[in-house]
Amino acid sequence: MKHIVSGIQPTGSLNLGTYLGSIKNFIDVQRRHPEHQLLLFIADLHALTVPQDKMKLRKTIKELAALYLASGLNQDTLSLFIQSEIPAHAQMAYLLQCFTYMGELERMTQFKDKAQKQTKGVSSALFTYPALMAGDILLYDAQYVPVGEDQKQHLELTRDIAIRLNNRFGSMVTVPEPLIPKVGARIMSLTDPTKKMSKSDVNVKSRVNLLDDETLIRKRIMSAVTDSEDTIRYDTKEKPGIANLITIYSAITGQAIPAVEATFKDSDYATFKRAVADAVIGELAPIQARYHELKASPELDRILDEGKAYADRFATNKIRKLQNALGLGRKRK
Ligand code: TYM
Repeated sequence: MKHIVSGIQPTGSLNLGTYLGSIKNFIDVQRRHPEHQLLLFIADLHALTVPQDKMKLRKTIKELAALYLASGLNQDTLSLFIQSEIPAHAQMAYLLQCFTYMGELERMTQFKDKAQKQTKGVSSALFTYPALMAGDILLYDAQYVPVGEDQKQHLELTRDIAIRLNNRFGSMVTVPEPLIPKVGARIMSLTDPTKKMSKSDVNVKSRVNLLDDETLIRKRIMSAVTDSEDTIRYDTKEKPGIANLITIYSAITGQAIPAVEATFKDSDYATFKRAVADAVIGELAPIQARYHELKASPELDRILDEGKAYADRFATNKIRKLQNALGLGRKRK
């Protein structure tokens, strides 16, 4: 079975950026690759690289699992699981750290950004995080990895590590390809459209969360920072706020960016923002309804158990193969 692998950290509330950059793309990727199994996980080990509140973390893990399912993924070719429930992820992370160089990790822009924001001690796990992520992917011989733009550098490093392992040990792992959506790979903050929309932004007005109600979504979009020109034109340098709203509208409706510009060429900003808010609300309402049903049903645990069994079998075999190649322990089949 060929695999597609991706994950999301269970930190904070899921927002429109994560949804358009990843979850919505998963649905499209599943449609384009019906012969692949999609392995999706909740990256709770990744979340631990910065301090977490135990109760909040546990709650968010379940919420994220329900949101994944509520978003309309095809369950026939989906294995959904929680990263920490598969011991092979932590094992693989250590093994891959032995094949990852300090210089490579020091170049990771996400580490530099996150370390800068961290006021107290920066954990060594935040630094080695890309090796954990490479392990998530290489454990399953993922052919494709759908992610947003900000994960591109981690994917490049994963490919380098995979090639390194294969050069050393023969064909050990599949070298993965990133699948980055053409539109929506980098949704920007609503209050500062030069920064990416992020669940860790202290300004709650900077984002729309997937579980926000209609009134709040409308409020957030209507107050999104724009400019004073009052023409709807896609220009990320001069008009980053409007360009971001055009991107959101395009990613949701499937209308190409020039078509969106043409549709709204005579509209003022308020009219355009109302249309964007309507599109976002229309997209999220059915997801929210399914989410509330799923969260209360035993179905969710059943799906997570099934996903765990599938992933565990595959990952444990891969670890064994690598341990044998490295000469660790006693030779095992
Ligand atoms: P995370 O949890 O930060 O984000 C999850 C996914 O959402 C995308 N994303 C965005 N896309 C567009 N616009 C935005 N503003 C935006 N914010 C987030 C991210 O690119 C990502 O695809 N390290 C990963 C999780 C991970 C993973 C993996 C992913 C761990 N192991 C293995 C793929 C394969 C992360 O922190 O994503």
